[in-house]
Amino acid sequence: MSLYLTTPIFYVNAQPHLGHAYTAVVADAVSRFHRLAGEDVYFQTGTDEHGDKVVQAAAAAGLSPKEYADRISGQFRAAWPPLAIEPDRFIRTTDPEHIRTVQAILQQVYDRGDIYFSDYAGLYCQGCERFLTEKELVDGLCPDHRQPPVPVSEQNYFFRMGKYQQWLIDHIESHPGFISPERYRNEVLSFLREPLEDLCISRPTSRLTWGIPLPFDNRFVTYVWFDALINYLTGIGYPAAADFGACWAAAEHIIAKDILKPHAIYWPTMLKAMGLGPYRRLHVHGYWNMNDAKMSKSLGNVVRPTDLAAEYGADTVRYFLLREMAFGVDASFSIDALIARRNSDLANDLGNLFSRSLTMAGKFAGNRVPAPGTPAEADRELAQAATAMAEEFSRQIEQFAFHRALQAVWEVVGLANRYIVANAPWELAKEPAQAERLATVLYHLLEALRLLTVVLQPIMPATAGKMAAALGVTLPADFQGQARWGLLAPGTALSPVEPLFPRLEKGTAPAAPPQPKPTSAARSPAPEPPAAGKAAAEGLITFEDFGRLDLRVGEIVAAERVPKADRLLKLTVKAPEARTVVAGIAAHYAPEEVIGRQVVLVANLKPAKLKGVLSEGMVLAAKEGDRLVLIGPGGPITPGSKVS
Ligand code: MSP
Repeated sequence: MSLYLTTPIFYVNAQPHLGHAYTAVVADAVSRFHRLAGEDVYFQTGTDEHGDKVVQAAAAAGLSPKEYADRISGQFRAAWPPLAIEPDRFIRTTDPEHIRTVQAILQQVYDRGDIYFSDYAGLYCQGCERFLTEKELVDGLCPDHRQPPVPVSEQNYFFRMGKYQQWLIDHIESHPGFISPERYRNEVLSFLREPLEDLCISRPTSRLTWGIPLPFDNRFVTYVWFDALINYLTGIGYPAAADFGACWAAAEHIIAKDILKPHAIYWPTMLKAMGLGPYRRLHVHGYWNMNDAKMSKSLGNVVRPTDLAAEYGADTVRYFLLREMAFGVDASFSIDALIARRNSDLANDLGNLFSRSLTMAGKFAGNRVPAPGTPAEADRELAQAATAMAEEFSRQIEQFAFHRALQAVWEVVGLANRYIVANAPWELAKEPAQAERLATVLYHLLEALRLLTVVLQPIMPATAGKMAAALGVTLPADFQGQARWGLLAPGTALSPVEPLFPRLEKGTAPAAPPQPKPTSAARSPAPEPPAAGKAAAEGLITFEDFGRLDLRVGEIVAAERVPKADRLLKLTVKAPEARTVVAGIAAHYAPEEVIGRQVVLVANLKPAKLKGVLSEGMVLAAKEGDRLVLIGPGGPITPGSKVS
């Protein structure tokens, strides 16, 4: 096995939320990426079902702990397929196999002398399910749960964790990639500068019965963390499985910073006491915050991943999560941010590139991949950028820098969109002498799209599947082989496609009274009542009149025909926010011709519905007889710039 990847096993005291989903999406995307590279990957997730918290949540729901655990564990299991998360194993700590493994390990460590019985008095946080040290408290409260810990004094069993402190420090120092990003490695090393106490690993049955009984003293059950961490071994058949050693050598855990200490300190020392080597790597991410606080059940500010997937689709959610959060650093979630990414990165940038390219290949090349001629400078630039992008993507994913990997991909999406504008295939199509150039431009576009499809597979599997089908290619599990330029075979049949990402509207569009039908591209603003005085009488407007017009440079990022309206194009104009503008220019411009153009937009025109489409502005055009040309700035300028 080359990679054994795990998420935490999630507590069943809370339903799945977006924070859990993020870790699972990361694990799924990384698994898919390595599988594509031809590696043997095993991806495990599951649920953590013992402990105080579950007992309390079950009681509140009027169920037994097992009934409750079955219900919530089922919800976690059901939450992943709608997000295209496909684990190889979903483990539960109530699985009999796991209970046997935990008991065997406890007995083994006890027999070796690393578990002892002793008195203990300490401050216990029920949220963390562990004793906290005074130093960890902030204003007397647990910093994570914002509750005071409870003083507890009892006899318990202890694991000699302190014995392995120096070994752990040495291991972390001699393996720089063991805990990453580095800030978490430093945090662990700084914690280890203080003497490491032994770990209380039992709970008396007088206080808690919902746990795994200690094999050597049935008056106690196992501390939930000692039980839970062992799931990583149960999942690969410890100790008996023939390939256990090979699987364990490839183990990498993904967690958020809330459970750094159990994973970076308890777990490696437990493994050492069992006579096993530590896992290979620990990847630690930050929190998804919502309204400035960690998304969590206790704060009640959660978003349900299944709701998001149903509303926006798995690929949009996966893309958003991986693009928006820099792995290791906290990020904020909002629906507006998700819609903004969907509309700009997915609908405008990728979706448009794809549909324009395929539409043009349909129209100008009979829906077949044309044979390219000798490439020009711009073609070579696109080919090189797309190939370099695939390498960069791979490098960044290996470092868990998903946002950077996707930035690199979107640079090529942008380049390809500009390549269309610069090479104007619709103009080339008008000149028979340019047939070879047209074929070369179309080929380069389609081949760049194929490379985008290859890299997007682990991030947006369904979208990559649609793109591949439209391009007439299959996607073998050979990332390196497929990420080379020039594999798209001329003559391949292309299939027309639906838009990959229909645009989403933010909230509901404002209602507007019906307005007269446009008579030309430049719909006249509804005439204002004439101002009193000489200027009005002479048909002149005042400076103030003109000042009421908000003219802006807009960039057309999407365009399509309005069904049953020959003259109308529905444009998406960025100025800088994207908005819909219906323009009567369809007799003069094809949709793919206007995408990428900068125009002058009347930005404060009252919205009006035209053929059922709400138009939020007007683009200016000049008319001469039958000819009509769009008015634009004399040179490129940032969309949204004021025209005055
Ligand atoms: N049961 C333990 C883990 C045992 S692993 C041997 C546990 N469960 S949990 O349900 O609380 O899950 C914590 C994990 O869920 C985090 O480490 C992270 O993977 C994910 N997240 C939960 N809330 C999160 C955010 N708000 N943001 C990011 N990740 C979050 O701890």
